[in-house]
Amino acid sequence: MLKVETETGRSLDRRAAVDRYLSGRRRTAEIFGMLAPEAYHDRPIALRNPIVFYEGHLPAFSVNTLLKKGLGEAGINPRFEVLFERGIDPEDESVVPGSLPAWPPRAEIQAYGREADRRIADAFERKDFTREDNLLLARGLAAYTILEHEPMHQETLLYMWHRLPYGKKTAPEGALRPVLGGDSPARASVHVPAGAATLGAKRDAIPFGWDNEFSEHTVEVSGFEMDVDDVTNRDFLEFVRAGGYEREDLWSEEGWLWRAEHDVRHPAFWERSGDEWIWRGMFEPLPLPPAWPVFVSHAEASAYARWRDSRLPTEAEFHRAAYGTRSGTERSYPWGEEPPDRSRGNFDFERWDPVPVGSFPAGASEWRIRDLLGNGWEWTSTVFAPFPGFEPMPTYPVYSADFFDGKHWVMKGGSLATTKPLLRRSLRNWFRGNYPYVYATFRTVRDA
Ligand code: AVJ
Ligand code: FE
Repeated sequence: MLKVETETGRSLDRRAAVDRYLSGRRRTAEIFGMLAPEAYHDRPIALRNPIVFYEGHLPAFSVNTLLKKGLGEAGINPRFEVLFERGIDPEDESVVPGSLPAWPPRAEIQAYGREADRRIADAFERKDFTREDNLLLARGLAAYTILEHEPMHQETLLYMWHRLPYGKKTAPEGALRPVLGGDSPARASVHVPAGAATLGAKRDAIPFGWDNEFSEHTVEVSGFEMDVDDVTNRDFLEFVRAGGYEREDLWSEEGWLWRAEHDVRHPAFWERSGDEWIWRGMFEPLPLPPAWPVFVSHAEASAYARWRDSRLPTEAEFHRAAYGTRSGTERSYPWGEEPPDRSRGNFDFERWDPVPVGSFPAGASEWRIRDLLGNGWEWTSTVFAPFPGFEPMPTYPVYSADFFDGKHWVMKGGSLATTKPLLRRSLRNWFRGNYPYVYATFRTVRDA
Protein backbone atom coordinates (compact mmCIF):
# COMPACT_ATOMS: atom_id res chain seq x y z
CA MET A 1 0.00 0.00 0.00
CA LEU A 2 1.05 3.55 -0.69
CA LYS A 3 2.39 5.51 2.18
CA VAL A 4 0.94 8.97 2.45
CA GLU A 5 2.95 11.54 4.33
CA THR A 6 1.03 13.42 7.00
CA GLU A 7 1.43 17.10 7.63
CA THR A 8 3.75 16.46 10.53
CA GLY A 9 5.93 14.13 8.53
CA ARG A 10 4.66 10.88 10.01
CA SER A 11 3.46 8.49 7.37
CA LEU A 12 -0.23 7.66 7.11
CA ASP A 13 0.22 3.95 6.86
CA ARG A 14 -2.47 1.64 8.19
CA ARG A 15 -1.30 1.88 11.77
CA ALA A 16 -1.02 5.69 11.71
CA ALA A 17 -4.51 6.02 10.21
CA VAL A 18 -6.09 3.74 12.83
CA ASP A 19 -4.26 5.52 15.65
CA ARG A 20 -5.19 8.96 14.46
CA TYR A 21 -8.81 7.95 13.92
CA LEU A 22 -9.21 6.25 17.30
CA SER A 23 -7.40 8.95 19.24
CA GLY A 24 -9.71 11.49 17.61
CA ARG A 25 -12.69 9.40 18.66
CA ARG A 26 -11.34 9.15 22.20
CA ARG A 27 -11.13 12.92 22.41
CA THR A 28 -14.70 13.24 21.15
CA ALA A 29 -15.78 10.76 23.86
CA GLU A 30 -13.86 12.78 26.47
CA ILE A 31 -15.59 15.96 25.37
CA PHE A 32 -19.02 14.30 25.58
CA GLY A 33 -17.92 12.89 28.95
CA MET A 34 -17.69 16.44 30.32
CA LEU A 35 -21.40 16.93 29.71
CA ALA A 36 -24.14 16.32 32.28
CA PRO A 37 -26.64 13.86 30.76
CA GLU A 38 -29.53 16.33 31.11
CA ALA A 39 -27.76 18.73 28.71
CA TYR A 40 -27.84 16.21 25.86
CA HIS A 41 -30.76 17.82 24.04
CA ASP A 42 -29.76 21.39 24.82
CA ARG A 43 -29.10 23.77 22.01
CA PRO A 44 -26.60 26.25 23.43
CA ILE A 45 -26.31 28.04 20.07
CA ALA A 46 -29.61 28.61 18.32
CA LEU A 47 -27.84 28.78 14.96
CA ARG A 48 -26.52 25.26 15.29
CA ASN A 49 -28.09 21.86 15.87
CA PRO A 50 -28.66 20.58 19.40
CA ILE A 51 -25.83 18.66 21.05
CA VAL A 52 -27.37 15.26 20.29
CA PHE A 53 -26.88 15.85 16.56
CA TYR A 54 -23.09 15.94 16.83
CA GLU A 55 -22.76 12.61 18.59
CA GLY A 56 -24.42 11.06 15.54
CA HIS A 57 -22.93 13.40 12.93
CA LEU A 58 -19.29 12.49 13.56
CA PRO A 59 -19.56 8.72 13.00
CA ALA A 60 -22.24 9.12 10.29
CA PHE A 61 -20.02 11.54 8.36
CA SER A 62 -17.13 9.08 8.53
CA VAL A 63 -19.30 6.19 7.40
CA ASN A 64 -20.81 8.21 4.54
CA THR A 65 -17.46 9.57 3.38
CA LEU A 66 -14.99 6.72 3.78
CA LEU A 67 -17.07 3.55 3.76
CA LYS A 68 -19.99 4.38 1.48
CA LYS A 69 -18.74 7.01 -0.97
CA GLY A 70 -15.05 6.11 -0.84
CA LEU A 71 -14.93 2.35 -0.59
CA GLY A 72 -18.40 1.68 -2.04
CA GLU A 73 -19.41 -0.43 0.94
CA ALA A 74 -22.81 -0.70 2.57
CA GLY A 75 -23.44 1.66 5.46
CA ILE A 76 -24.62 0.72 8.92
CA ASN A 77 -27.95 2.48 9.39
CA PRO A 78 -29.45 4.30 6.39
CA ARG A 79 -31.80 6.38 8.53
CA PHE A 80 -28.93 7.70 10.70
CA GLU A 81 -26.78 8.33 7.67
CA VAL A 82 -29.39 10.79 6.39
CA LEU A 83 -30.50 12.24 9.73
CA PHE A 84 -26.92 12.99 10.80
CA GLU A 85 -25.48 13.79 7.39
CA ARG A 86 -25.04 17.54 7.66
CA GLY A 87 -25.24 20.42 10.10
CA ILE A 88 -27.09 23.66 9.55
CA ASP A 89 -25.81 27.18 9.05
CA PRO A 90 -28.81 29.50 8.97
CA GLU A 91 -28.48 33.26 8.66
CA ASP A 92 -30.30 34.03 11.89
CA GLU A 93 -32.60 32.37 14.39
CA SER A 94 -35.72 33.19 12.42
CA VAL A 95 -34.83 30.68 9.72
CA VAL A 96 -33.84 27.87 12.08
CA PRO A 97 -36.22 25.02 11.29
CA GLY A 98 -38.99 25.15 13.89
CA SER A 99 -39.49 21.44 14.20
CA LEU A 100 -36.34 19.43 14.51
CA PRO A 101 -36.37 15.70 14.04
CA ALA A 102 -37.29 13.48 16.96
CA TRP A 103 -33.81 12.28 17.81
CA PRO A 104 -33.14 8.60 18.38
CA PRO A 105 -32.34 7.47 21.95
CA ARG A 106 -28.79 8.23 23.04
CA ALA A 107 -27.96 4.56 23.56
CA GLU A 108 -28.76 3.89 19.89
CA ILE A 109 -26.60 6.78 18.72
CA GLN A 110 -23.72 5.55 20.86
CA ALA A 111 -24.11 1.98 19.65
CA TYR A 112 -24.01 3.35 16.10
CA GLY A 113 -20.79 5.20 16.94
CA ARG A 114 -19.16 2.04 18.27
CA GLU A 115 -20.10 0.08 15.17
CA ALA A 116 -18.84 2.90 12.93
CA ASP A 117 -15.52 2.93 14.78
CA ARG A 118 -15.17 -0.82 14.40
CA ARG A 119 -15.89 -0.66 10.67
CA ILE A 120 -13.60 2.30 10.04
CA ALA A 121 -10.70 0.85 12.01
CA ASP A 122 -11.20 -2.35 10.03
CA ALA A 123 -11.15 -0.38 6.74
CA PHE A 124 -7.90 1.32 7.75
CA GLU A 125 -6.42 -2.04 8.71
CA ARG A 126 -7.51 -4.09 5.71
CA LYS A 127 -9.04 -2.10 2.83
CA ASP A 128 -7.45 -0.21 -0.04
CA PHE A 129 -8.05 3.35 1.13
CA THR A 130 -5.37 5.04 -0.97
CA ARG A 131 -6.19 4.01 -4.54
CA GLU A 132 -4.93 6.28 -7.25
CA ASP A 133 -7.62 5.08 -9.70
CA ASN A 134 -10.41 6.47 -7.54
CA LEU A 135 -10.94 10.22 -7.11
CA LEU A 136 -12.24 9.84 -3.58
CA LEU A 137 -9.41 7.62 -2.45
CA ALA A 138 -6.49 9.12 -4.38
CA ARG A 139 -3.74 10.09 -1.93
CA GLY A 140 -5.98 9.05 0.94
CA LEU A 141 -8.47 11.89 0.34
CA ALA A 142 -11.48 10.30 2.05
CA ALA A 143 -9.31 9.14 4.96
CA TYR A 144 -7.90 12.61 5.53
CA THR A 145 -11.35 14.15 5.10
CA ILE A 146 -12.74 12.18 8.02
CA LEU A 147 -9.56 12.53 10.10
CA GLU A 148 -9.74 16.35 9.88
CA HIS A 149 -13.53 16.60 10.14
CA GLU A 150 -13.52 15.07 13.63
CA PRO A 151 -11.32 17.69 15.37
CA MET A 152 -13.13 20.54 13.60
CA HIS A 153 -16.33 19.50 15.30
CA GLN A 154 -14.53 18.98 18.60
CA GLU A 155 -14.04 22.73 18.43
CA THR A 156 -17.75 23.18 17.61
CA LEU A 157 -18.56 21.14 20.71
CA LEU A 158 -16.20 23.04 22.96
CA TYR A 159 -17.53 26.45 22.05
CA MET A 160 -21.05 25.09 22.55
CA TRP A 161 -20.00 23.74 25.98
CA HIS A 162 -18.58 27.19 26.74
CA ARG A 163 -22.14 28.55 26.64
CA LEU A 164 -23.63 25.92 28.97
CA PRO A 165 -24.39 26.68 32.62
CA TYR A 166 -21.65 25.40 34.96
CA GLY A 167 -23.97 22.81 36.46
CA LYS A 168 -24.11 21.02 33.11
CA LYS A 169 -20.42 20.21 32.64
CA THR A 170 -17.47 18.87 34.64
CA ALA A 171 -13.77 19.45 34.01
CA PRO A 172 -11.94 16.29 32.96
CA GLU A 173 -9.45 14.82 35.41
CA GLY A 174 -6.13 16.68 35.23
CA ALA A 175 -7.53 19.70 33.37
CA LEU A 176 -5.08 22.61 33.61
CA ARG A 177 -6.33 25.56 35.62
CA PRO A 178 -6.73 28.89 33.81
CA VAL A 179 -3.63 31.12 33.72
CA LEU A 180 -5.01 34.57 34.42
CA GLY A 181 -1.77 36.51 34.02
CA GLY A 182 -1.33 40.11 35.04
CA ASP A 183 -2.11 43.29 33.21
CA SER A 184 -2.33 43.42 29.45
CA PRO A 185 0.96 44.37 27.73
CA ALA A 186 1.11 47.91 26.33
CA ARG A 187 -0.31 48.08 22.83
CA ALA A 188 2.52 48.05 20.31
CA SER A 189 2.76 47.65 16.57
CA VAL A 190 5.52 46.81 14.11
CA HIS A 191 6.16 47.67 10.50
CA VAL A 192 5.80 44.80 8.07
CA PRO A 193 7.57 45.78 4.85
CA ALA A 194 6.01 45.32 1.42
CA GLY A 195 6.55 41.91 -0.14
CA ALA A 196 4.96 38.84 -1.61
CA ALA A 197 2.65 36.49 0.27
CA THR A 198 1.90 33.00 -0.96
CA LEU A 199 -1.66 31.94 -0.29
CA GLY A 200 -3.05 28.44 -0.68
CA ALA A 201 -1.08 25.37 -1.63
CA LYS A 202 -0.12 23.40 -4.72
CA ARG A 203 -2.31 20.35 -5.07
CA ASP A 204 0.50 17.85 -4.77
CA ALA A 205 2.65 19.76 -2.30
CA ILE A 206 0.72 18.83 0.83
CA PRO A 207 -0.70 15.43 1.80
CA PHE A 208 -4.18 16.86 2.21
CA GLY A 209 -6.00 20.18 2.06
CA TRP A 210 -9.65 21.17 1.96
CA ASP A 211 -10.86 22.36 -1.45
CA ASN A 212 -10.72 26.07 -0.51
CA GLU A 213 -6.93 25.82 0.06
CA PHE A 214 -6.19 25.28 -3.66
CA SER A 215 -4.48 26.45 -5.58
CA GLU A 216 -1.32 28.29 -4.68
CA HIS A 217 -0.94 31.88 -5.78
CA THR A 218 1.09 34.90 -4.84
CA VAL A 219 -0.22 38.28 -3.74
CA GLU A 220 1.90 41.45 -3.55
CA VAL A 221 1.29 43.16 -0.24
CA SER A 222 2.12 46.82 0.49
CA GLY A 223 3.89 47.71 3.72
CA PHE A 224 1.68 48.06 6.80
CA GLU A 225 1.77 48.42 10.59
CA MET A 226 0.36 45.50 12.59
CA ASP A 227 -0.37 45.01 16.29
CA VAL A 228 2.25 42.79 17.93
CA ASP A 229 -0.44 41.18 20.09
CA ASP A 230 -4.06 40.27 19.68
CA VAL A 231 -6.53 42.81 21.01
CA THR A 232 -6.97 41.96 24.69
CA ASN A 233 -9.95 42.17 27.01
CA ARG A 234 -8.35 45.26 28.54
CA ASP A 235 -8.03 46.94 25.14
CA PHE A 236 -11.58 46.03 24.22
CA LEU A 237 -12.93 47.28 27.56
CA GLU A 238 -11.74 50.75 26.53
CA PHE A 239 -13.96 50.49 23.48
CA VAL A 240 -16.92 49.34 25.58
CA ARG A 241 -16.36 52.18 28.08
CA ALA A 242 -16.05 54.70 25.27
CA GLY A 243 -19.55 53.76 24.14
CA GLY A 244 -18.43 51.77 21.10
CA TYR A 245 -21.59 49.66 21.16
CA GLU A 246 -23.74 52.78 20.94
CA ARG A 247 -21.95 54.44 18.04
CA GLU A 248 -23.61 53.38 14.81
CA ASP A 249 -20.96 55.24 12.81
CA LEU A 250 -18.35 52.66 13.83
CA TRP A 251 -20.31 49.66 12.59
CA SER A 252 -21.02 48.25 9.15
CA GLU A 253 -24.68 48.36 8.20
CA GLU A 254 -25.01 44.62 8.62
CA GLY A 255 -23.05 44.65 11.89
CA TRP A 256 -25.23 47.38 13.35
CA LEU A 257 -28.42 45.54 12.41
CA TRP A 258 -27.17 42.48 14.27
CA ARG A 259 -26.04 44.55 17.26
CA ALA A 260 -29.36 46.34 17.50
CA GLU A 261 -31.57 43.35 16.92
CA HIS A 262 -29.90 41.31 19.65
CA ASP A 263 -29.12 44.31 21.84
CA VAL A 264 -25.46 43.25 21.90
CA ARG A 265 -23.53 45.39 24.42
CA HIS A 266 -20.41 43.33 25.05
CA PRO A 267 -18.56 40.22 23.83
CA ALA A 268 -20.48 36.94 24.23
CA PHE A 269 -17.70 35.58 26.47
CA TRP A 270 -18.21 38.44 28.95
CA GLU A 271 -20.85 38.81 31.60
CA ARG A 272 -21.78 41.69 33.84
CA SER A 273 -21.91 41.00 37.57
CA GLY A 274 -22.74 44.15 39.52
CA ASP A 275 -19.90 46.53 38.76
CA GLU A 276 -17.59 43.84 37.51
CA TRP A 277 -16.91 42.12 34.25
CA ILE A 278 -16.67 38.35 34.27
CA TRP A 279 -15.17 36.03 31.64
CA ARG A 280 -17.27 32.93 31.14
CA GLY A 281 -14.44 30.43 31.52
CA MET A 282 -15.11 26.87 30.44
CA PHE A 283 -15.44 25.48 33.96
CA GLU A 284 -15.65 28.58 36.15
CA PRO A 285 -16.45 32.26 35.87
CA LEU A 286 -13.31 34.41 36.16
CA PRO A 287 -12.76 38.09 36.85
CA LEU A 288 -12.14 39.40 33.32
CA PRO A 289 -8.47 38.56 32.58
CA PRO A 290 -7.09 41.80 31.10
CA ALA A 291 -4.30 40.09 29.15
CA TRP A 292 -6.39 37.41 27.41
CA PRO A 293 -7.29 37.94 23.76
CA VAL A 294 -10.86 39.17 23.45
CA PHE A 295 -13.20 36.76 21.62
CA VAL A 296 -15.70 38.62 19.44
CA SER A 297 -17.68 38.50 16.20
CA HIS A 298 -16.33 39.99 12.99
CA ALA A 299 -18.82 42.83 13.38
CA GLU A 300 -17.47 43.73 16.84
CA ALA A 301 -13.86 43.38 15.70
CA SER A 302 -14.45 45.70 12.74
CA ALA A 303 -16.18 48.34 14.88
CA TYR A 304 -13.29 48.29 17.37
CA ALA A 305 -10.74 48.61 14.57
CA ARG A 306 -12.53 51.62 13.13
CA TRP A 307 -12.68 53.21 16.59
CA ARG A 308 -8.86 52.91 16.73
CA ASP A 309 -8.55 54.45 13.23
CA SER A 310 -7.36 51.05 12.09
CA ARG A 311 -8.76 48.12 10.16
CA LEU A 312 -8.63 44.33 10.14
CA PRO A 313 -5.80 42.73 8.12
CA THR A 314 -6.56 41.13 4.80
CA GLU A 315 -5.90 37.42 4.44
CA ALA A 316 -2.76 38.27 2.41
CA GLU A 317 -1.53 40.67 5.10
CA PHE A 318 -1.98 37.95 7.69
CA HIS A 319 0.18 35.65 5.55
CA ARG A 320 2.84 38.29 5.07
CA ALA A 321 2.90 38.99 8.83
CA ALA A 322 2.91 35.33 9.81
CA TYR A 323 5.10 33.67 7.20
CA GLY A 324 7.12 36.39 5.45
CA THR A 325 10.80 37.09 6.09
CA ARG A 326 13.24 39.89 5.34
CA SER A 327 15.11 37.65 2.92
CA GLY A 328 11.94 37.16 0.87
CA THR A 329 11.55 33.42 1.56
CA GLU A 330 8.42 32.25 3.28
CA ARG A 331 8.19 29.96 6.27
CA SER A 332 5.88 27.04 6.94
CA TYR A 333 5.11 28.32 10.42
CA PRO A 334 5.58 31.79 11.91
CA TRP A 335 8.67 30.56 13.79
CA GLY A 336 10.23 28.59 10.94
CA GLU A 337 10.11 24.98 9.77
CA GLU A 338 9.99 23.02 13.04
CA PRO A 339 6.65 21.31 13.61
CA PRO A 340 4.32 22.83 16.22
CA ASP A 341 4.86 21.88 19.86
CA ARG A 342 3.76 23.24 23.24
CA SER A 343 6.38 25.99 23.25
CA ARG A 344 4.89 27.67 20.15
CA GLY A 345 1.35 28.48 21.16
CA ASN A 346 -1.93 27.59 22.85
CA PHE A 347 -3.42 24.94 20.56
CA ASP A 348 -4.10 21.19 20.31
CA PHE A 349 -6.57 20.96 23.23
CA GLU A 350 -3.95 21.62 25.87
CA ARG A 351 -6.30 23.96 27.77
CA TRP A 352 -9.96 24.96 27.88
CA ASP A 353 -9.54 28.73 27.84
CA PRO A 354 -7.07 31.19 26.33
CA VAL A 355 -3.85 32.32 28.01
CA PRO A 356 -2.37 35.85 28.25
CA VAL A 357 -1.22 37.25 24.90
CA GLY A 358 2.52 36.98 24.30
CA SER A 359 2.92 33.83 26.41
CA PHE A 360 4.88 32.01 23.69
CA PRO A 361 7.96 33.97 22.59
CA ALA A 362 9.10 30.85 20.66
CA GLY A 363 6.02 31.18 18.44
CA ALA A 364 6.69 34.73 17.21
CA SER A 365 7.10 35.52 13.49
CA GLU A 366 10.03 37.18 11.69
CA TRP A 367 8.55 40.56 12.63
CA ARG A 368 8.18 39.50 16.30
CA ILE A 369 4.41 39.37 15.94
CA ARG A 370 3.03 36.96 18.54
CA ASP A 371 0.31 34.33 18.82
CA LEU A 372 -0.41 34.16 15.10
CA LEU A 373 -1.12 30.44 15.55
CA GLY A 374 -3.18 29.39 18.54
CA ASN A 375 -4.96 31.18 21.42
CA GLY A 376 -7.77 32.23 19.06
CA TRP A 377 -8.55 32.35 15.34
CA GLU A 378 -8.01 35.77 13.80
CA TRP A 379 -10.63 37.59 11.82
CA THR A 380 -9.56 39.10 8.50
CA SER A 381 -11.26 41.65 6.24
CA THR A 382 -11.29 39.10 3.40
CA VAL A 383 -14.60 37.67 2.24
CA PHE A 384 -14.46 33.87 2.00
CA ALA A 385 -14.23 33.15 -1.73
CA PRO A 386 -12.59 30.53 -3.94
CA PHE A 387 -8.92 30.82 -4.90
CA PRO A 388 -8.06 30.68 -8.61
CA GLY A 389 -8.21 27.03 -9.62
CA PHE A 390 -10.81 26.10 -7.00
CA GLU A 391 -12.56 22.80 -7.53
CA PRO A 392 -15.12 21.32 -5.15
CA MET A 393 -13.63 18.30 -3.40
CA PRO A 394 -15.10 14.97 -4.46
CA THR A 395 -15.43 13.73 -0.88
CA TYR A 396 -17.49 16.77 0.20
CA PRO A 397 -18.41 19.00 -2.76
CA VAL A 398 -20.40 21.51 -0.68
CA TYR A 399 -17.79 21.82 2.08
CA SER A 400 -16.80 25.33 0.96
CA ALA A 401 -18.94 26.06 -2.08
CA ASP A 402 -22.09 26.52 0.02
CA PHE A 403 -20.40 29.41 1.84
CA PHE A 404 -19.15 31.44 -1.12
CA ASP A 405 -22.08 33.80 -0.64
CA GLY A 406 -20.27 37.01 0.28
CA LYS A 407 -21.48 36.73 3.87
CA HIS A 408 -18.64 34.74 5.41
CA TRP A 409 -15.24 36.10 6.44
CA VAL A 410 -11.91 34.31 6.43
CA MET A 411 -10.32 33.51 9.78
CA LYS A 412 -6.69 32.42 10.00
CA GLY A 413 -4.43 31.07 12.72
CA GLY A 414 -5.97 28.62 15.13
CA SER A 415 -7.38 28.30 18.61
CA LEU A 416 -6.91 26.24 21.74
CA ALA A 417 -9.01 23.62 19.92
CA THR A 418 -6.97 23.39 16.71
CA THR A 419 -4.98 20.18 16.24
CA LYS A 420 -1.44 20.30 14.87
CA PRO A 421 -2.22 19.12 11.31
CA LEU A 422 -4.76 21.94 10.99
CA LEU A 423 -2.08 24.51 11.80
CA ARG A 424 -0.74 24.27 8.24
CA ARG A 425 -0.21 27.57 6.46
CA SER A 426 -2.90 27.09 3.80
CA LEU A 427 -5.77 26.20 6.16
CA ARG A 428 -8.65 28.69 6.06
CA ASN A 429 -11.58 28.91 8.42
CA TRP A 430 -14.68 31.10 8.01
CA PHE A 431 -17.84 32.26 9.71
CA ARG A 432 -20.55 34.84 9.25
CA GLY A 433 -19.85 38.31 10.53
CA ASN A 434 -22.47 38.01 13.24
CA TYR A 435 -21.09 34.82 14.85
CA PRO A 436 -19.81 35.73 18.35
CA TYR A 437 -19.46 32.23 19.84
CA VAL A 438 -16.32 30.93 18.24
CA TYR A 439 -12.79 31.18 19.67
CA ALA A 440 -11.98 34.12 17.44
CA THR A 441 -9.95 37.20 18.22
CA PHE A 442 -8.27 39.77 16.00
CA ARG A 443 -5.51 42.33 15.67
CA THR A 444 -5.57 45.61 13.85
CA VAL A 445 -3.43 47.09 11.07
CA ARG A 446 -2.75 50.49 9.55
CA ASP A 447 -1.41 51.48 6.16
CA ALA A 448 2.28 52.33 6.33
C1 AVJ B 1 -14.90 25.23 8.54
C2 AVJ B 1 -15.34 25.34 10.89
C3 AVJ B 1 -16.61 26.69 9.33
O1 AVJ B 1 -17.89 24.07 11.59
O2 AVJ B 1 -19.16 24.95 10.08
C4 AVJ B 1 -17.65 20.73 9.73
C5 AVJ B 1 -16.38 22.90 9.40
N1 AVJ B 1 -18.04 21.76 7.90
N2 AVJ B 1 -18.55 20.03 9.04
C6 AVJ B 1 -18.09 24.42 10.43
C7 AVJ B 1 -17.33 21.83 9.01
C8 AVJ B 1 -18.79 20.63 7.93
C9 AVJ B 1 -17.00 24.29 9.37
N3 AVJ B 1 -15.96 25.38 9.52
FE1 FE C 1 -19.65 18.38 9.83
